[in-house]
Amino acid sequence: MRVGFIQNKPAFGSIQKNLDRVEELLDGHSADLFVLPELFASGYQFKDKEESRSFAEQVPGGLTTNALTALAKKTNAFIIAGLAEADENHVYNSAVIIGPNGYIGKYRKLHLFDTEKLCFDSGNLPLQVFDIANAKVGVMICFDWRFPETARTLALLGADLIAHPSNLVLAHCPQAMITRCLENRVFAVTADRVGSEERMGALKFIGQSQVVDPDGNILVRASKTEEEVQIVEIDLEKARDKYLTPHNHIFKDRREDLYH
Ligand code: ACM
Repeated sequence: MRVGFIQNKPAFGSIQKNLDRVEELLDGHSADLFVLPELFASGYQFKDKEESRSFAEQVPGGLTTNALTALAKKTNAFIIAGLAEADENHVYNSAVIIGPNGYIGKYRKLHLFDTEKLCFDSGNLPLQVFDIANAKVGVMICFDWRFPETARTLALLGADLIAHPSNLVLAHCPQAMITRCLENRVFAVTADRVGSEERMGALKFIGQSQVVDPDGNILVRASKTEEEVQIVEIDLEKARDKYLTPHNHIFKDRREDLYH
């Protein structure tokens, strides 16, 4: 399976321009799955819920989902990407899952970071895995990395790979995702953005999008500052073998009788 990420540098609020730029970045690339950053087309730093609502879209049916659907068809790829989702009175920091044949599903971020709590409602959908090419793919968004239960739940649900749209500002995440992969013997594709926003205090996004394998190897890691598309070939069988040694199975050895 060929998986990749797009690391972009969105301009806040310029959704169409950012969508066009992603299409340009993808030109000439092919993969089974592309992961894009959290809020990749809107930008990140909303001031309040009124503002996030003004940029939020229907999923499916909104501008960003429709543009990604056309892009998935054009590239014959699956795409997982972050966007602000409007649902009645609620606004979620969501990710949309789209295939060459159209809309598949969505994930709503469970663990909101810092001022996101002023702009979004916490996710209310169960963690789930999606059938993508021949893989089972779980989705989590950025700060979900800080809660190991998220990746663990996805892995226990059968995820071979975790797609991780992000807008990283905390330095530890790229390294922590190596641990998430080791803990669960899964692949992870973290798609981050670069650049900065200064709408409510300066925020610098750290780039370093990456693909990590179940042994904790970094298969590819992007720069801290540049827009990039990177694609790697992965062998899903590696994620399906949960034995560390002939005597240690990463899930069966868990002492659920003593965990609380
Ligand atoms: C983050 O969750 N975007 C830091």
